[in-house]
Order: sequence, then structure tokens, then C-alpha cells
Amino acid sequence: MNPPRVIAIDGTSASGKSTNAKLVAKALNYVYVDTGAMYRTLAWHCLKRKVDIHDAKAVAGACRSWKTSLVCVEGQVRLLVDGYHPALEIRTDETSAAVPHVAAVPQVRAWMKKTQRACIQFGNLVMEGRDIGSNVFPETDFKFYLDAALEERSKRRAAEGIHENLAARDQRDSQRAVAPLMIPLGATVINNSRLTSAETSKLILESIQAKPGIAP
Ligand code: DC
Repeated sequence: MNPPRVIAIDGTSASGKSTNAKLVAKALNYVYVDTGAMYRTLAWHCLKRKVDIHDAKAVAGACRSWKTSLVCVEGQVRLLVDGYHPALEIRTDETSAAVPHVAAVPQVRAWMKKTQRACIQFGNLVMEGRDIGSNVFPETDFKFYLDAALEERSKRRAAEGIHENLAARDQRDSQRAVAPLMIPLGATVINNSRLTSAETSKLILESIQAKPGIAP
């Protein structure tokens, strides 16, 4: 039997990673993994436990000792903490502001990589994030990097009611010492400033199906 296949979708904030990763996963009947949600879950856990998110040692300690499990529900992987799935809590402004601090801690990134690689237990994956093609699954033949003009991405976030300095967030993600946001070697880069998500996901699917050995 062939080993499970991983489609890595990385890119800048609001470049359509989630929407397109979900569309591609649905079309291929693969399991969808949102790795940003995992970093958000740790940030939420630290806030809840009053761990100082600016103290890298304390964050690494929290990550070493938290009790988590991975489950797959309706084709999507969830990271549970003490058996609980904090779906809404990880999307608050407070958690969003805390995530970059947590995500910059080397021990956290090592833990996330190990946990994200373990998702392969659920079968073929579409995994979205910032370092999937470059760091988590560098061996995959299916790497995509999404981007769009800053103005367009800011408009998309504003339409969701979120007013965020995306340029600052991209800069923080790109300048992180460990596993920074970058275009992975061999990735197909798609600038979707003028594309709908249906058009973007079609490009991704066509590129996947153009690979030798992949049935259309
Ligand atoms: O995609 P998102 O906005 O939910 O990601 C939340 C944060 O986690 C963001 O600051 C970038 C970080 N992240 C990361 O460093 N590596 C990943 N693979 C995914 C997310």
C-alpha cells in the first residue's frame, strides 16, 4: 500500500489558505489539518493557565506538560486539551495576539512538528500553515504557496470584521528564527489577488492531478 499523501498549503495571512485547503480536501476526500489552530490552542491554554506568554521557558514548560490528543471528526483533525476542543476560544482577539509569541518558541515548534506529522495516522492529508512544505513535511511532492496583494488581503480580513496589521504579522512570521514563513523549495506559488477561491482551488487540483501517478 502507498504511504499517505500530504498536500502542503502555506502562505501569507489572509491568502486563502483555509478556504482553499478545505475545498481541496473535500474534492480529494482527504483529511484537512489547520496547523494554525494548533498554535492557537496552545496560546489559549497558556492564557487560561496564566502562563506568561512572553516567557519562552514557561511556554515551553506548558507545552511539555499539557495533556492533548488528536482526533479526526468529519474529515478534520482536532487537537483536544484534556479531552476538550476549544473551537471558539482560539479565535478571540486575545488568543490571536498571544499566538505569535507562543509560535516563536523553538520547543513549541518541535512539539508541533511531531504532532502534525502524527496526523498521517488519519490517512491522506491537506495541511495548511506557514512551514508545512519547508519544515513539517519537506519530503512531500505537493507543495503550494498562496499569496495575494496586501491591499486585497486586508480587504478580505476587513470583510470578516477583522482589522489587523497584516504586513506586521507577515514580517513577524517571516523573521522568526525557527521555521519562518518562506516559499518552500519546489512549491507552486499562486498569487490569487484576482482569483476566486473556486479558481484557486481548481489550479491546485489541476497541479496535483498533473503529477505522474495521480488519477484525475
Ligand atoms: O493561520 P492562523 O492565523 O490561524 O495562525 C495562527 C498563528 O500561528 C500565526 O501567528 C502564525 C502561526 N503559525 C505558525 O507559526 N506555523 C504554522 N504552521 C501555522 C501557524
